[in-house]
Amino acid sequence: MGTRTTAPAVRARKVAGGAEPLVMVTAYDAPGARLVDEAGVDLILVGDSLAMVVLGYDDTLQVTIDDMAHHTAAVARTSPAALVVADLPWLSYHVSVADTVRNAATLIRAGAESVKLEGGRKRLPMIEALVDAEIPVMGHIGLTPQSVHAMGGFRVQGRETNAALALVDDAKALAHAGCYAIVVEGVPDEVGALITDAVDVPIIGIGAGPTCDGQVLVLHDVLGLEDRVLPKFVRRYAELKQVGTVALRTFAADVRSGAFPSAAESYHLTAEQSEALGLYGRPG
Ligand code: KIV
Repeated sequence: MGTRTTAPAVRARKVAGGAEPLVMVTAYDAPGARLVDEAGVDLILVGDSLAMVVLGYDDTLQVTIDDMAHHTAAVARTSPAALVVADLPWLSYHVSVADTVRNAATLIRAGAESVKLEGGRKRLPMIEALVDAEIPVMGHIGLTPQSVHAMGGFRVQGRETNAALALVDDAKALAHAGCYAIVVEGVPDEVGALITDAVDVPIIGIGAGPTCDGQVLVLHDVLGLEDRVLPKFVRRYAELKQVGTVALRTFAADVRSGAFPSAAESYHLTAEQSEALGLYGRPG
């Protein structure tokens, strides 16, 4: 087994301190985890984007702690070198501190090495309890998809001065409470830079500009596995949906024309066994 990335190692990766930017990509199953780990990413996020990307829901509010544990376990079974971070889903850390720790423990026992939760200063009691229970916590502020109804949609955050300053204060409070890294999503570049400069833990951006200490994207978006409309911050590095559809159309045509399977793709009896079954001379 190669060297495994740890939460303290990620904590030390501040670009201003001379570190290379961090790379985080989502994965929700074993083949996805192998793909991103073999590509050499630093962190694998078992995101609650699972709901929209894999399970076909319209938002992330539909996944449960059991769904997250099921997919986290599939990722963790591949023993990746990258740090496995699992999202605490909506309502798994909103009701009580005790619930939060129990739910995070479910993800850790499923194989996660860290959990991520959304929200600013109002999450401090939960974050402190998790850190106290020795569970590394990643924060997530800005456009927090679990707040889709409260935000009135998936909207860029921090455009107003007060909102931008509130995000800086949130980031400082989360870092102070013990988060080893913070995702900042859907804010103007300038606000991403302001937050990155304000804290000494790495800021991993998604739609937060190039100045962050790292970037995260959703696996299916990077690979072009879907042709749904994507946010402007996504860059597709492949068009696998197109490639996959062409491959499957070719398979269907081969089945319909009899070109698949070939003799080499089939099992065969010996000539004697064929003869005993009265099949001698029939095409195998
Ligand atoms: O669930 C997810 O995929 C995420 C990333 C977009 C940061 O939280």
